Amino acid sequence: MSSHYYITTPLYYVNDKPHLGTAYCTIVADVLNRYHQFFGEKTLFLTGTDEHGQKCEQAAKARNLSPQEHCDDMSQNFIQTWKALNIDYDIFFRTTSPWHKKAVQKALQELYDKGDIYLGEYEGWYCVSEEIFYAEKDLVDGKTPSGKEVQKVKEKNYFFRMSKYQEPLLKHIQEHPHFIQPDFRRNEVLGFLKKPLNDLNISRPKSRLTWGVEIPFDKDYVTYVWFDALLNYVTALGYQQEGKEEHFRTWWYDAQTTHLLGKDILTTHAVYWPTMLMALGLPLPKTIFATGWILNKEKGKMSKSSGDVIAPLHLAEQVGVDPLRYFLVREIHLGNDAPFSYEILVNRLNAELSNNLGNLLSRTTNLIHKFFEGKVPNAPSSLDKASQELKDFALQTPDRLKEDILSMAPSYALNHVVELLNKANQYLEQKAPWKEAKNNLESAGQALYMAIETLRIAASLLSPVMPQKMAQLLEALNNPPSTFSACKQWGLLTPSSPVQKTPPLFPRLDLKVLAEH
Ligand code: MSP
Repeated sequence: MSSHYYITTPLYYVNDKPHLGTAYCTIVADVLNRYHQFFGEKTLFLTGTDEHGQKCEQAAKARNLSPQEHCDDMSQNFIQTWKALNIDYDIFFRTTSPWHKKAVQKALQELYDKGDIYLGEYEGWYCVSEEIFYAEKDLVDGKTPSGKEVQKVKEKNYFFRMSKYQEPLLKHIQEHPHFIQPDFRRNEVLGFLKKPLNDLNISRPKSRLTWGVEIPFDKDYVTYVWFDALLNYVTALGYQQEGKEEHFRTWWYDAQTTHLLGKDILTTHAVYWPTMLMALGLPLPKTIFATGWILNKEKGKMSKSSGDVIAPLHLAEQVGVDPLRYFLVREIHLGNDAPFSYEILVNRLNAELSNNLGNLLSRTTNLIHKFFEGKVPNAPSSLDKASQELKDFALQTPDRLKEDILSMAPSYALNHVVELLNKANQYLEQKAPWKEAKNNLESAGQALYMAIETLRIAASLLSPVMPQKMAQLLEALNNPPSTFSACKQWGLLTPSSPVQKTPPLFPRLDLKVLAEH
């Protein structure tokens, strides 16, 4: 497998403030990225904001600001939110960067020169809110399928010969079963490609929109916001920029390139984008993965227009950043829709963090303080059946987790750690070192050693999801090695090394208190 991993989120429209739905995609990408780092790969993580288009131009006008001022201001909402949620991206991409605009123009020129862009007449409907064109036949009761207003448009525009690449795209999807994931989304795209693919309108006359990248071969037009935004995934790596060729090859040709995005923007990513890349003679991304939606109370997509959006920072203040990250990655099987409620949140966090993980930590550290002066007790010299089973299970967990991360099932990956923690708690119940210490201190210490070694492995394995809390936990264990390879070794906690008592890392949450604030 390639040792370079490149993961991207969509570039969020700069007008909307981050909400739980957009935070979800970004947190999942951050967690996947951190896991790949943890497995020893070189990684690159891109997120950012999509800043051109009519929606943005209108919003700037309403605030009496220039579009650029408006974008500079609004993109800060994302930067600050991601910082607070401990999102460790490498690139925060803004489509208004001058070098991006130049690279987009070079790509447009290249496609025009080879005859893949031509001038034609466009007649149809345009939705400003989605920045998408619709043909009459695709409207539902005079609105977009998701109920947004459209306006009639008839004008000369430039078209990208997308239809020319329909067959090659179909072939690529058929030959690369992991290209579009999950499988049911792949089937949707294959279904979509059964109908003839139209050419794509990729321009807007400046009379209607000025806030965009100017078309280099016709100064009266700017390019369609999606055409400019999708190219970010390669311009960010140095595409069409002198001196960046090697960097670009490493991260676009040779890496495991993964686009993470919501199911509502699958067509743009799985049809428009690959055909653009084919026309430009560039390799396609290895994986396009569509996540589901976080649903609101009415079971619709949580969004600004649906009214009941949840601010991720408010939630993080209530339950903590790391528990929120854990919840989103653990609760939702990647690809599925998921309802959000405080009840679901509290149940999951109390059961798995306060009880399972938190209990193991407080029980072991308290007993070690009570009976062993706060020092790691001696390891057993030979293992009985229960101890052997716990050790075997612990040492199998890292590879099980890794397999599920590599196959984009982070919720299942975390489940292996939950099972491991369950096993360790059951083991302690069975060994009851709190009783055993009174009869046989050595044997009680050995049981505690087994449990705390398991805790060390579990905490390291959870670090990419909960970096701060797990750093605190490992610090209480005197900072043992916490690399992936250290998780596959038994016995790294040194007898006699100090163990600290910590205040509860995951205090129990009270549903009533949370839901009222
Ligand atoms: N700007 C385009 C993307 C261009 S990428 C080159 C865009 N932006 S967006 O801000 O509208 O949406 C970005 C992402 O947020 C999408 O993947 C969308 O699915 C996701 N989500 C928005 N609301 C969501 C939920 N309620 N739940 C999960 N994801 C949601 O589209």
